[in-house]
Amino acid sequence: MNIEVLLTETEIADELVESIEARDLPEKFFYWTPLSIQSWKALSTRSEEAMRETWEGLAAKAADLTRAFIGTIPVISLGAGEGLKDREVLKALKTAGREAKYFPVDASQSLLEMACAGAEDDDCEALGIKADISSPMHLMLAADVSEAPRLYLMVGNTLGGFDPLDQIKHVATCVHKGDILIIDANIHAGAIEPSEEQKRFVFSPLAAAGVLPDDGALEFVAKPDDRLDGLHIVTRRFQAARDLTLRVAARDIPLARGERILLNFRYLFSQEAFRWLLTEHAGLRVVTEILSADGRFVTAVCIKA
Ligand SMILES: C[S@@+](CC[C@H](N)C(=O)[O-])C[C@H]1O[C@@H](n2cnc3c(N)ncnc32)[C@H](O)[C@@H]1O
Repeated sequence: MNIEVLLTETEIADELVESIEARDLPEKFFYWTPLSIQSWKALSTRSEEAMRETWEGLAAKAADLTRAFIGTIPVISLGAGEGLKDREVLKALKTAGREAKYFPVDASQSLLEMACAGAEDDDCEALGIKADISSPMHLMLAADVSEAPRLYLMVGNTLGGFDPLDQIKHVATCVHKGDILIIDANIHAGAIEPSEEQKRFVFSPLAAAGVLPDDGALEFVAKPDDRLDGLHIVTRRFQAARDLTLRVAARDIPLARGERILLNFRYLFSQEAFRWLLTEHAGLRVVTEILSADGRFVTAVCIKA
């Protein structure tokens, strides 16, 4: 298994300590420990079900979409996770007689290993890239694994884990003439009622640091983002009910009673806001848009405008 490392485990561990000290945990730490990965897999099973029809449809179109690609098709998945959706596309390309090379890009070593192993089980060559996709430099280096035309995937509402106005611009910079980007977003559908799986997932980095559920309260707050009509942010935060000591990367970090830690946020979108971000804001052209069977996800196939 080949994995190229732009972001080391030591860098992630150091950044995790700094983030806990700053009381603000970015998205990548929610997929880092075995506990987080277990919670993520339990949570994602439901969205995999909801997205099945979308991905069967996309897989059926994959060979057609990439007809102009000559030779091996580079498939670069940004925030690949364990790559289950990506594999549908890779398998469809193989069935259509096309050769693909898979480049899952993720900060999580374990998820990258799963993504590479899954592709290799399907006889597809894979090179994992361990990188921080919030870094424009890492995105550029990941894109440089191949020249255009490339097929990019950024799915599972990965965009919603970052500031979407900044992140989509960084991603769009990597999309050149001939490239295709398949990207999805979670639709905002009114009141937020977090499931037990969601709570476990959000709490998992704290649990891995020795915090117990009754050490404090977990709060989900949804509000519109004033920068764009139809854009909503769900923040998740933990407030300590007693003095705590978090054990992170062999360091003890105190958290006083009443203090809050901001956990990862999630952006949700109206279909119009998502389309505006892709087109007017990031300069892409949407060639196809697919709404999932349950209406919770929209997936767009984009090219450079
Ligand atoms: C919401 S999951 C989506 C995973 C997968 N694409 C799917 O559809 O199931 C987001 C993925 O992005 C990765 N990720 C989060 N922040 C990241 C960062 N800053 N750099 C690289 N990967 C990151 C996580 O490890 C996780 O695998």
